[in-house]
Amino acid sequence: MKALVETLKATARETNAADIRAAFAADPNRFARFSTKLGDLLLDYSKCAVNDQILQGLEALAKAAKVEEKRDAMFRGDVINITEERAVLHTALRNRSNRPILVGGKDVMPDVNAVLEAMGAFADKVRSGALKGATGKKITDVVNIGIGGSDLGPVMATLALAPFHDGPRLHFVSNVDGAHIADTLKLLDPETSLFIVASKTFTTIETMTNAATARAFIAGRLGEAAVGHHFAAVSTALDKVAAFGIDAARVFGFWDWVGGRYSIWSAIGLPLMIAIGSENFGRLLDGGHAIDEHFRTAPVCENIPMLLGLIGFYHRNVLGYPSRAILPYDQRLARFPAYLQQLDMESNGKAVTLDSKPVEFATGPVVWGEPGTNGQHAFYQLIHQGTDIIPAEFMIAANGHEKDLRHQHQLLIANCLAQSEALMKGRTLTEAKAQLTSKGMDEAKADRIAPHRVFTGNRPSLTFVYDQLDPFALGRLIALYEHRVFVEGALFNINSFDQWGVELGKELATGLLPVVEGTESAEGHDSSTAGLVTALLKAAR
Ligand code: F6P
Repeated sequence: MKALVETLKATARETNAADIRAAFAADPNRFARFSTKLGDLLLDYSKCAVNDQILQGLEALAKAAKVEEKRDAMFRGDVINITEERAVLHTALRNRSNRPILVGGKDVMPDVNAVLEAMGAFADKVRSGALKGATGKKITDVVNIGIGGSDLGPVMATLALAPFHDGPRLHFVSNVDGAHIADTLKLLDPETSLFIVASKTFTTIETMTNAATARAFIAGRLGEAAVGHHFAAVSTALDKVAAFGIDAARVFGFWDWVGGRYSIWSAIGLPLMIAIGSENFGRLLDGGHAIDEHFRTAPVCENIPMLLGLIGFYHRNVLGYPSRAILPYDQRLARFPAYLQQLDMESNGKAVTLDSKPVEFATGPVVWGEPGTNGQHAFYQLIHQGTDIIPAEFMIAANGHEKDLRHQHQLLIANCLAQSEALMKGRTLTEAKAQLTSKGMDEAKADRIAPHRVFTGNRPSLTFVYDQLDPFALGRLIALYEHRVFVEGALFNINSFDQWGVELGKELATGLLPVVEGTESAEGHDSSTAGLVTALLKAAR
């Protein structure tokens, strides 16, 4: 693998691959050659620093890393999450073909379908008003209490699919900061509120603490007997849910082969289903399944997740770019960058290979972003003229949902396309100077000012275009990025499906709580931690 990467570096140098502007000038067909379509979904990667030789080298890399074999093992239900000894089968949750998928010799599809059906029946009852609170009133507000994968998916998707939201109001509480639940409870009438406690493990301290606060809110206002009417739960740990006191009929399970950050397709999607209805939720699953079929069967160079993963690897390990910006020109995808941050960084932020050796590549890049056009007025300065090159990933719908505001959508499209064009083309010193002198500036001043107005250009970006942001389109986008993370993880030869890196902080927080509560001394902690505890305790009122 290392040798292939070195070859790719040489190919990039020899073919002058990073000069994207020159590549466009030399080839009027560049867009046609380096873009691909799947239904109405278009991926344009012609503004990345690729050419035929680079793509051939990347394909060789995929072969050497056995990416296709690893992909097949995932879909088959092999135990590919080796540190937790689990299969990785979020694809089974959206397996609309219903083809049997075996885990330990047992087909998981009947259980998957049964939970989906139970979720649908429950969601229908909440949406229709048939499910009542303890005092006989219908539910107007649903509060999801969860964090990480038990929060980000439903939060992101509920906003993304706002035009389809015809169920009760939704609220999301994740942070252990009491401000989050306190601000939410202020908006609620306990008689008409339903809390969904969502936690794969049902041990996560933030979720358990917020759930206890919500329980006290209901019990305090409506009496202890009312609690059962106002709670439901989603978890893989059904015994722990029972101990919390939630009626089994309101508990929706999933399985250890669903990673938290891959769980939106499971019962973790219940709040979303309550918001948009089971039919629309089914369309989200259809979108995910369409990508699964594409990822399973399309040849590497026509396979969108493969291309995304290979280009991502290329940016990071051949061209040395440290981060990746996710820039949806779709306000309702405002939480998509945060969602992808967990998906990508919790999956591929690793330094040890599947053989327990130090990884030989730079693994997952920093993933970040904001919707356009807002980002343009905040951080795009650095993307255009900063010293780091940051590959940008744009996404734009051909159609907004606001038909009477078509002009605003045209402005949005124009801005999205202008940004990728500017990143690629840039502006030379000569052009910058000519622009200034044409406006009447004298030569000496133009010489001083022009360098500040130079854009290097050749800054890579790719663009997704889709017809409209609907459940199917969203399902497709999420699954594309899931598989892209898979491809990159396979190239790094790491396990993308555990998350030991979040454990140490959790352990230390548990140990520090009695110190912060003042019942244990800070002795044994480093002087910074001890000093901070002392300062906080001194200032505590
Ligand atoms: O932050 C670590 C993590 O385990 C994530 O992977 C997960 O999505 C989140 O915590 C929440 O976990 P749970 O659903 O078990 O409460």
